[in-house]
Amino acid sequence: MDEDERERAKRHAGERAAGAVEDGQVVGLGTGSTAAHAIRAIGRRVEDGLSVRGVPTSFQSRQLAVESGIELVGLDEAEGVDLAIDGADQAAGADLVKGGGAAHAREKAVDAAADRLLVVVDPTKVVDVLSEPVPVEVLPDARVPVARAVRERGGEPTLRSAAGKDGPVVTDNGNLVLDCDFGRIDDPADLAAWCSALPGVLEHGLFVDMADELHLGQPDGVEVREL
Ligand code: A5P
Repeated sequence: MDEDERERAKRHAGERAAGAVEDGQVVGLGTGSTAAHAIRAIGRRVEDGLSVRGVPTSFQSRQLAVESGIELVGLDEAEGVDLAIDGADQAAGADLVKGGGAAHAREKAVDAAADRLLVVVDPTKVVDVLSEPVPVEVLPDARVPVARAVRERGGEPTLRSAAGKDGPVVTDNGNLVLDCDFGRIDDPADLAAWCSALPGVLEHGLFVDMADELHLGQPDGVEVREL
């Protein structure tokens, strides 16, 4: 699949998921290039009269929602989230690795609050067993003990470096990200629980059994899988 085909696949996935949004709903707005297609498509539906409120998951998704004319509401103000649409870095059934854009802490809070999570991906993301490095958002001071613990468990942590800035990526929450390569993840629930229990970890990018529908874009269409 070349870059052009992949981009078409992402657009198809995002636009199909945007079509699932119903009038009056509160919608979680995911982060990344695939979710961005969904946000733009929701914006076009708002122009045509759809009434929705969006809960952004990052600076990027907030900005795009504003540009797209989508009314916003905070997770702390909304009475609930009907539907969330979000991308993923890897998807194995209902389990995901997220955080390629360092937005996984807010994404998880919003996606977990949603009645339904629609995951929008292109075919390069779909696997049988997760194996992507797991992004772990850490308090800056905790990066060394967390990295040590990850090594003791057999993982290889790498502090994520920024592009366009010297030094590390700083998240929307003011923290740092360790990309932790554990190789093949045979038991995502066990690894997720272990990561969550590490002092100084704000959130990790393993989303276990969270996806309700996979919208798998293709260059010429979309396959929707109920999970
Ligand atoms: C953001 O932190 C991530 O969880 C994204 O959802 C993920 O990286 C997917 O992004 P793309 O759709 O750009 O691949």
